[in-house]
Amino acid sequence: MKKLTREEIEHLVPYPPGKPIEELAREVNIKKESIIKLASNENPLGPSPMAVEAIKKRLKDLNRYPDGSAFYLKRKLSNKLGRPTDQIIIGNGSNELIELVVRTFLLPGEEVIQPFPTFLVYEKIVKGSGGQITSVPLKGFDIDLEAVTKSISPKTKIIFLNNPNNPTGQAIKKDQLKDFLNSIPKDIIVVLDEAYIEFAQSADIANGAEMLEYHSLILVMRTFSKIYGLAGLRIGYGFGSKLLIDYMERVRQPFNVNLLAQEGALAALDDEEFIKKTISIIENGKKYLYKELKKIGLEYIPSVTNFFLIKVPSGARKVYELLLKKGVIVRSMEAYGLPEYIRITVGLKEENEKFISALKEVL
Ligand SMILES: Cc1ncc(COP(=O)(O)O)c(C=O)c1O
Repeated sequence: MKKLTREEIEHLVPYPPGKPIEELAREVNIKKESIIKLASNENPLGPSPMAVEAIKKRLKDLNRYPDGSAFYLKRKLSNKLGRPTDQIIIGNGSNELIELVVRTFLLPGEEVIQPFPTFLVYEKIVKGSGGQITSVPLKGFDIDLEAVTKSISPKTKIIFLNNPNNPTGQAIKKDQLKDFLNSIPKDIIVVLDEAYIEFAQSADIANGAEMLEYHSLILVMRTFSKIYGLAGLRIGYGFGSKLLIDYMERVRQPFNVNLLAQEGALAALDDEEFIKKTISIIENGKKYLYKELKKIGLEYIPSVTNFFLIKVPSGARKVYELLLKKGVIVRSMEAYGLPEYIRITVGLKEENEKFISALKEVL
């Protein structure tokens, strides 16, 4: 008998996504409307209204294939980023770009490095492609770039850095990243996953757009799923090394990003009012939640993004399950190696209040 699949795939477990509202409504028999989901770092305000309007206008064109080159979206991103369109690639969510990088560049026997805990998808994709991944522990809750440098071997091909990092909400500083990029071998691909960078307001936080001159093989990834509120559309983008983008363009599927996603993203980029409102809701929400958690006496890890970790010494899984019964979906951090922490996404004022009152009951 032939082996059905690779050894690494035998040991993979499906990615544990935030529980969908509909699923919980069925399971605990609570009305969908009274459930709150603070589990997947989505935008609590809904989608960008300008994106929704633009999408409605294109519904009549759904009989046509989308523009496989995403011409207009690339042009707009090119203006925004100040980089030519051949240094930009569009993906079916930034998740697709993670997959594309690994599929295009990771050769047999080569390895990937990730600080850990981080976004679980890197490991999943690397292992699913038959690659080896080395996880470098964080220092406290921060990415330890010195330790990452030390763990580089001749086989290292790709380093994933999630900045700010999910699930810890901490960011790498500009000087740290510059030093790191200057110190590593020139043939290593650095992927800077900036899914949450738009939430990070402090000027000393490293931003991929300013880092490209310090290393030749950088791919910066961003997404429309978070600040633009378009997670359901599945669209993200990458920019950086022309060489990397050129090869990835050869490998990607011709119609990887659907027509409505391109249209929505194009409009969302102009929706400045929505972005401002989102940042203000998140900042105010964090202030409120931090204050209430202090009152309850729970430790939390202040974050520069729209989510953060809360320490629940009685065990994350238990607290997660009890909160579910009250119609509140958060994330238990066991799979991230943090069994005493839950991660919550900052919600609307009413959602944050409901979370705090449910948490008090549960504790
Ligand atoms: C760090 C990180 N990168 C990428 C993504 C995925 O983004 P997308 O929806 O664009 O695939 C997420 C989503 O949770 C994330 O947390």
